[in-house]
Amino acid sequence: MFKVVFLGNSGVGKSSLIQHYCTGHFCSSKKATTGVDFQMKTIYMGSTSITLQLWDTAGQERFRCIAEQYYRKANAILVVYDITCLSSFSTVREWVNSVEEKMRDGVMLMLLGNKLDLADTHCREVSRKDGQSLAEHHKASFYECSAKTGENIEQLMTQMAEKLIDQLDRKCDNTLSLTTNAAKKSSCCL
Ligand code: GTP
Ligand code: MG
Repeated sequence: MFKVVFLGNSGVGKSSLIQHYCTGHFCSSKKATTGVDFQMKTIYMGSTSITLQLWDTAGQERFRCIAEQYYRKANAILVVYDITCLSSFSTVREWVNSVEEKMRDGVMLMLLGNKLDLADTHCREVSRKDGQSLAEHHKASFYECSAKTGENIEQLMTQMAEKLIDQLDRKCDNTLSLTTNAAKKSSCCL
């Protein structure tokens, strides 16, 4: 089970992304999230099945302290902005800074530019290049996506899940080699 937390300004499409990923549907009249919501999704990666706990936080200023309590124990944090809203991109830095202060080591960070379906309608305010360089700066993975059309959602969630599994495998290998070394040491002391 992995805990995945979505953060970002109000209206960028966090709830819509989670809804599309879990149900395949998009609703154009979504109400703003108040507090925190969550959904579970089980996915199969080869012979491994994993459950993602998807935490949907509220972007409105007055709920931010609630959101903070949720990303403390996260395995992955997905910071979302709206490619048609420059201010939502400018705030990403604030979100990432507050996350970096409080998150555990080894947490996976992803930056998502949502509403890609509006990119060709002259509404784009954030270029892909700017999104990419901000992600590189924070050592985060980067995707542009659309909760409306579903573009890239499956891909980005699969990439996230693969990385989480990979991280867990490496942790298990390290623990195993530490245990083996400790066992060797204790047997030579006998
Ligand atoms: P808070 O709950 O207030 O933090 O907002 P949120 O980030 O959860 O945004 P929400 O999913 O409620 O979406 C806000 C509005 O943007 C809604 O009217 C959605 O229908 C719309 N929206 C979300 N994603 C997309 C998208 O990919 N494309 C388009 N065109 N509209 C979107
Ligand atoms: Mg919401």
